[in-house]
Amino acid sequence: MTGPSDELVAAARRVHAEAYCPYSGYRVGAALRTDVGIVAAANVENAAYPLGTCAEAGAIAAMVALGGRRIEEVVVLTDGDRPGSPCGGCRQRLSEFAARDVVVHSVLVDAEAVLVRTVGDLLPDAFGPSDLGDRETD
Ligand code: THU
Repeated sequence: MTGPSDELVAAARRVHAEAYCPYSGYRVGAALRTDVGIVAAANVENAAYPLGTCAEAGAIAAMVALGGRRIEEVVVLTDGDRPGSPCGGCRQRLSEFAARDVVVHSVLVDAEAVLVRTVGDLLPDAFGPSDLGDRETD
């Protein structure tokens, strides 16, 4: 698999620097290449801990606000010495808008891309829109 595009990594770096993470100290920048261009966001924590939001969730919300519906490539940029893979909830969120073969690059801020996975690798047998079938909605 090829490495992430330079512009996607650059976008993730910009938002990574702005992460609001006074509680965990763990900065995350997520950048998505989408049908409306590159969108990126950082994690945003809260003194009421469960209300914090992941970088991926912020980036997906930004994409949708711009009218985007399709994710084509993902970069998740973290510091530390282990690559940061999307949490379980964010795997499901990515899966809503990304095909199974979409590549997720986990990149360390001071290193090369170190973990490369597809959305299908990260969430096999994903529950998705087709599982809801043709049903009446209330
Ligand atoms: N975090 C993300 O932004 N994305 C993930 O996929 C994993 C975790 C954030 C949430 C929290 O602000 C910090 O990392 C530590 O969990």
